[in-house]
Amino acid sequence: MTESLSVRVFADRSDACRTLAAEVASLVRRINDSGRPAVLGLATGRTPLPFYAELIRLHREGELSFSKVITFNLDEYLGLPGTHPESYRAFMQRELFAQVDILPENVHIPDGMVAGEALEGHCGAYEEAIRAAGGIDFQLLGIGRTGHIGFNEPGSPRQSRTRMVELDPVTRQDAAPSFGGLEQVPTHAISMGCGTILEARKIALLAWGAGKAAIVREALTGPISDQVSASFLQEHPDATFYLDAEAGSAL
Ligand code: PGA
Repeated sequence: MTESLSVRVFADRSDACRTLAAEVASLVRRINDSGRPAVLGLATGRTPLPFYAELIRLHREGELSFSKVITFNLDEYLGLPGTHPESYRAFMQRELFAQVDILPENVHIPDGMVAGEALEGHCGAYEEAIRAAGGIDFQLLGIGRTGHIGFNEPGSPRQSRTRMVELDPVTRQDAAPSFGGLEQVPTHAISMGCGTILEARKIALLAWGAGKAAIVREALTGPISDQVSASFLQEHPDATFYLDAEAGSAL
């Protein structure tokens, strides 16, 4: 493990999320005070839910405004329209955006309905939009059992950019219950690449529960390898793992 990658183990996920949400709120205020919008990279899945609940609480208490926040989500399922309840656009709307003061034009999520020839251009435009916003100030990540960050499954190169990816069978299996069966889970997605993610100035990876303990250990202490894309974080100058006691139990 390199010295720059730090690990913080909390008694439980609420503790972890309270701490991180306060840090992110303060980062947003600091950046906004300097006269520019804050650019946040956001994640979906079960893991960030208590974190988003904390951001919403801070917003309601007047501690955090999203009026000068620009967001970029990591990924989206291919073939799902934003109206599908399992699409990441619908997830973000439900779990965060509808409950805060973000401007719709400041929200960026890959479009799961782009197809064929339009796909490459869409991915290039996503990268360009991140650059035009000044790059990502803070990137939130979960980790899949395959070690993926975003949908960068094993074999995703360190330099990869936003592109179409094929989902690992383990990832599809994990998503099956919320889709009501494996056959309903999309086979492909659009995901920021490892290279895109690693350019964020500050990164927090969240993991909860004993089911994540082994892959968290592998990502933190195993070889830096495209077989576990989260292991690339070992080389990032400002990345932190926020764990509950169970997720940190194998360290
Ligand atoms: P989860 O997914 O938050 O639903 O566990 C994490 C991930 O796949 O990144």
